[in-house]
Amino acid sequence: MSEALLEVSSLGGSYGRIPALRDADVSVEAGQITSVVGANGAGKTTLLRLLVGAHRPDAGTVRYGGDDVTRWSPARRVRNGLVLVPEGRGIIGGMTVMDNLRLGQDAGRKGQFTLAEVLERFPILDSRQDRLAGLLSGGEQQMLAIGRALLTQPRVLMLDEPSLGLAPKITQELMRLLASLRDDGLTILLVEQNVRQAMRISDAYYLMETGRVIAQGNPADAANDKRIQAAYLGGH
Ligand SMILES: Nc1ncnc2c1ncn2[C@@H]1O[C@H](COP(=O)(O)OP(=O)(O)OP(=O)(O)O)[C@@H](O)[C@H]1O
Ligand SMILES: [Mg+2]
Repeated sequence: MSEALLEVSSLGGSYGRIPALRDADVSVEAGQITSVVGANGAGKTTLLRLLVGAHRPDAGTVRYGGDDVTRWSPARRVRNGLVLVPEGRGIIGGMTVMDNLRLGQDAGRKGQFTLAEVLERFPILDSRQDRLAGLLSGGEQQMLAIGRALLTQPRVLMLDEPSLGLAPKITQELMRLLASLRDDGLTILLVEQNVRQAMRISDAYYLMETGRVIAQGNPADAANDKRIQAAYLGGH
């Protein structure tokens, strides 16, 4: 059996003596949207920080495209297409939309996503090229963060709670956009507390609780999983 594009095995991470992630196994298949859902403090962001190399694991391995990348530097991971849109988006409010996008271009390699293509995918960014990013709406800022990430030429695009603070209608639009990127071949790892919305577009899910993966499956099974049903109640 061939291995997944991203394969997390027995991964653990702590802050000082406090374990935040324990013994996590997560597989991200190429061309799919894999969601990681769970309540506050479950360890979702910690998982992403370990995957991009922003935090050191104290156990386990991360394999990516057949390589053991567990000890790779953050920069090497980005160069090889492991790209995170962090919670809070990480855009620079005092710079224009276009300058923020150029930052992505500078950080990345030449590849599949060109500036013209990103502007076409996000008409809202095209029409606001010269506006300061800090003056955009929350939804527009999230689009900008994703557009910028695409320009770094990801092979796996990871997003940490992109729907945070967005109205349900904007969240839906965002999810449609992620689904269309997946349909065009991009692999996505989506961390969300909005379980209902994430499930609509996901091909696979992992449910986390207090640092552990406690359930996994595909959204079709989710209807039969009591724990994921309980998590739904928190979403909207
Ligand atoms: N920098 C830190 N120092 C100490 N403890 C931390 C730090 N960051 C996170 N933690 C702890 O690690 C655990 C997992 O946190 P993490 O941020 O990964 O959860 P999360 O699932 O992303 O939560 P949320 O949905 O609120 O973003 C929590 O108990 C949290 O308090
Ligand atoms: Mg988090």
